[in-house]
Amino acid sequence: MTNGIRIAPSVLAADLTRLAQQVGQVLEGGADWLHVDVMDGRFVPNLTFGANMIEALRKLTDRPIDVHLMVVEPERYIETFAAAGASVFTLHPEATIHVQRQLARVRSRGMLAGLALNPGTPLALADEVVADLDLLLVMTVNPGFGGQGYLPSSNEKIRRARELLTARGSRAFLEVDGGITAQTIAAAHAAGADTFVAGNSVFTGADPGREVQDLRRRCLVTV
Ligand code: DX5
Ligand code: ZN
Repeated sequence: MTNGIRIAPSVLAADLTRLAQQVGQVLEGGADWLHVDVMDGRFVPNLTFGANMIEALRKLTDRPIDVHLMVVEPERYIETFAAAGASVFTLHPEATIHVQRQLARVRSRGMLAGLALNPGTPLALADEVVADLDLLLVMTVNPGFGGQGYLPSSNEKIRRARELLTARGSRAFLEVDGGITAQTIAAAHAAGADTFVAGNSVFTGADPGREVQDLRRRCLVTV
């Protein structure tokens, strides 16, 4: 970790025919975490990865694997993802009924417990379970696809999320995900985010490792 900032490249945007090579490049470039987007075709329209992707990445690195579940009933995967080597398990409150119980189960399996809020989901949901959170993810796009544009209203929500964590004495990471680029990251950082998921901005560049370094550097730009 550098400057208290974590950069988490999302392998959703990687070239899967060269996954190990591209993951090697982002690790070389100082990626702190690897982000894995799990989608089930129900919570979001798209279908992506499962435990086999986590297992494959775990063979490539000891760094934290940050798993984002865009699936209904994410609790069905707590055991298998923990066994596969997941470090952070982030679920959406819109996708499960007993949110507090599931967050506690995630922790009991040795993973960090994350809660992800869609752009239209109020922060108040996080307030109710703040003691159970190791990470709060403020979605900066509507989830489902990489390569979407950063929602400008996000900066205000990030600010309020930071205020909430501070007011409650929480040391949870404040993560943002969706449309994070060299143009948007500084404002998200200034608003209080400390952990940044980036897919297309990292993997569509000629040198993914350099893109990670560039994103980290841009956080330090005053906006
Ligand atoms: C969106 C996913 C993101 C996605 C981000 O539903 O949760 O993690 O990979 O991709 P970019 O950075 O391209 O917006
Ligand atoms: Zn994600």
